[in-house]
Amino acid sequence: MDIELPAVRSHAESEAEDRPPSTVEYLDYRTIEENGWDLEDDDLFEKAAAADLEKSEYGVIEADRNESLLRTAEENDLKWPFQCRSGSCAMCTAVLKEGEAEMDVNLFLEDEEVEERGMRLTCTCRPRSDEVRIVCGAIRMEYVRDVAQNRG
Ligand code: FES
Repeated sequence: MDIELPAVRSHAESEAEDRPPSTVEYLDYRTIEENGWDLEDDDLFEKAAAADLEKSEYGVIEADRNESLLRTAEENDLKWPFQCRSGSCAMCTAVLKEGEAEMDVNLFLEDEEVEERGMRLTCTCRPRSDEVRIVCGAIRMEYVRDVAQNRG
C-alpha cells in the first residue's frame, strides 16, 4: 500500500513561498572587465543600465524566492557558469552587491568570503530581499579562480 507523505518545508521556505518574487539585477563580470569598470565602483549598475549591453551581460529578472539564482538564470535563458550544482566548487560564484541572498549549502566558501567579499554560490543561493544586485560569472575574477584551483 502506498502512503503519501506530506511535503516537508522549512520555516524559511514557507515564508518565502508567501512573498512576491525578488527583482534580481545582474551584471556579468566579464562585462565589467571589458568596459574598464571596477567591481567596487559605486555606480557600477547605473553604468551598466546606461550602456547598450546584451541580455547575457546585464539585465533584470524576476526570481522566485524558493528557486536558486542559477536555476532562475537558466529559466531566463542565461548561461551562467556552473559545475557541481551542489555547493562544493566555485564555478557558479557571484558577488552580491546589494540585497540579501542566502545559500542553503556552502561546502566551499569561507565565512570571510561570504560575509566580507559578498561571494555566493548561485547554485544553492536564493534571494531573500525584494531587490538583489549581483555580479555573476565571478569565476573569471583572479581571486575566485585562484581559490577554485587551490582549494578542495
Ligand atoms: S556549481 Fe559548484 S558550487 Fe555551484
